[in-house]
Amino acid sequence: MREKIKTCIKGLDELMTGGIPQGHVVLISGLPGTMKSSIAYNILYNNAIQENKKAVYISLEQGRDSIIEHMAGLGMPHEKVENLVNIVDMGYLRLHMEENASEQQSWMDIFKMYAENLKTNTDYDLLVIDSLPVLELLAQMKDRRSDLFHFFGWLRELNITTFIVVEASSETGIVNDEDFLADGIIRLKKERQGYDISRQIVIEKMRGTKHGTGLFTLLHDGKEFQLTRAIGGT
Ligand SMILES: Nc1ncnc2c1ncn2[C@@H]1O[C@H](COP(=O)(O)OP(=O)(O)OP(=O)(O)O)[C@@H](O)[C@H]1O
Ligand SMILES: [Mg+2]
Repeated sequence: MREKIKTCIKGLDELMTGGIPQGHVVLISGLPGTMKSSIAYNILYNNAIQENKKAVYISLEQGRDSIIEHMAGLGMPHEKVENLVNIVDMGYLRLHMEENASEQQSWMDIFKMYAENLKTNTDYDLLVIDSLPVLELLAQMKDRRSDLFHFFGWLRELNITTFIVVEASSETGIVNDEDFLADGIIRLKKERQGYDISRQIVIEKMRGTKHGTGLFTLLHDGKEFQLTRAIGGT
């Protein structure tokens, strides 16, 4: 049996008979402000603390300091895991790329080389890419389907478990290429309930594991995420 990577969201791992199969490429998908980045960081943070796993969080939109501040507010101070969780933002990446770029290499080639070298040097287990739309923009993907197909294939060969943040809504009925290519989809939703916004989570797909498909309310108590049964969810 393949090792399972825990999401460390109370109630979610039980729903997936223990967690996400190691080696998967999983989308964390949802509209703005549905806590995609927080969920992704939560996985890295708790796997560092509980399982001593190494991770890299590549943030292509939000700056490193802003992420660290936000996560500290959610009870996940980076200094507790700084030896295991490496947060890399666009500023850092750009600097690295300028130093290593050659005329012939595309942005994507340099990005891949960076992730591969880091894998050789630090042997990380988990990777977050936040987010796919920005990666596409920077890589100037032209044939989206084919480019993504090769990118996902390359990720699988790295022998890591990857979480890709995607800004998407499931309500439009449009199914994107990445939804087919990914091994798993964790979909985040939000819904107005009177004065409040309620956040919800659903495992839309998870290859290689039995999983529940219910819609659950996602709560954060200041320290950790947990699921409860959705009330009035769609
Ligand atoms: N201390 C906190 N406790 C609970 N919720 C918080 C706290 N701080 C921020 N939030 C909520 O977290 C949300 C943002 O979380 P996050 O950045 O993870 O979402 P996101 O889906 O990645 O957003 P974006 O689409 O902007 O990237 C805010 O909209 C806010 O409602
Ligand atoms: Mg985000």
